[in-house]
Amino acid sequence: MKQLEEQAPNRRSFLKTGMLAAGVATAGVGMLGRGVSAFGEEREERSITKGDIAILQLLLAAEIIETDLWRQYRELGGIEAIGGPSQGYITALEQLDGDMPQYISDNTDDEISHVAFLHAYLKSKGQRPINLDKFRNLQGSAAPGAKKIGRLTNLMQLSVDTSWWTRYRSKENLDLGAKFPQAVPSLKVGRHPAIPTSQADFNDANHIQAIANTAGFHFAFIEQAGTSLYATLSQRVSSREVLRITISIGGSEIMHFQVWHDKAGNAVALTDGSLTFQNLTVNQPESLQANLIMPEPCDFIDGLPECSIIRPTGAGHLDAVGAINGFIADGLFIGQPNEFIQLLLHLAHEADEARPEL
Ligand SMILES: [Fe+2]
Ligand SMILES: [Fe+2]
Repeated sequence: MKQLEEQAPNRRSFLKTGMLAAGVATAGVGMLGRGVSAFGEEREERSITKGDIAILQLLLAAEIIETDLWRQYRELGGIEAIGGPSQGYITALEQLDGDMPQYISDNTDDEISHVAFLHAYLKSKGQRPINLDKFRNLQGSAAPGAKKIGRLTNLMQLSVDTSWWTRYRSKENLDLGAKFPQAVPSLKVGRHPAIPTSQADFNDANHIQAIANTAGFHFAFIEQAGTSLYATLSQRVSSREVLRITISIGGSEIMHFQVWHDKAGNAVALTDGSLTFQNLTVNQPESLQANLIMPEPCDFIDGLPECSIIRPTGAGHLDAVGAINGFIADGLFIGQPNEFIQLLLHLAHEADEARPEL
């Protein structure tokens, strides 16, 4: 992982060793320009820490993964696909909410912007951003409307963890050892497509609705992971600017999650093979009730009152390794070589080891 070891040039060491001129040439005007105040005084500016770089590289990898999967959803279910050959999928998604195609396209745009920003930020700090292009070899959907290009993620063999649903309706907290049941137990068992895999999937209205329902819960699964991941890693950054980045992009993930949380509850009750969705909008206990989408106040910090919060945000759950392991268990990387998994886990371990340097 050579690129992780390449540190940005350190401004102070240039000054110390009299290599300022060389520093200007290699570091670029922007970097040094920020080191001088309006009064012309030298302002001490730390270069980005190794920990911050590790966090940003992992987040960039996560955003590249998100972008890859959201692009696949957009090709078949986004606003651009309306009236096209995947209309049957769109009609099924619209049972969850009439605005689903717009939301899918917008979520995709947001992920693309997260990738572009983090990529550019790392470059501006003299780092080589992580690149996963050589792993874009998975065959995607054969359904009409899907581009025939290599993919990083597999949306056709998912085991979706829906425990986030009951977690956010509970007064207990995963960070404090609580465990939560699945909202849709059969979705966690076996492998299910969240996009139509071929033309044949459109021929059975019940089956295409099951695929759209699966997507509905998968959207929220992805974004709840982003919600916790950014909040967890934000506690480990050193630079105020990097903190600003992680809490600001993290906030966007929270907004995505909340929208998808609301829509998943409208999944149509049905049975399709081994998969069963029940109507969560009527006659449900509070642990499943569809419209309880605000985070229930829960245990947070020992000895203090319950609090409405995003969760988990502690180590060992949806930290970097936890999020990547969650994506692996989800089936997102089925078909990828071990090298790809190991690269992601390496990046995740490096990010989780970061500690704030004051
Ligand atoms: Fe994102
Ligand atoms: Fe996201």
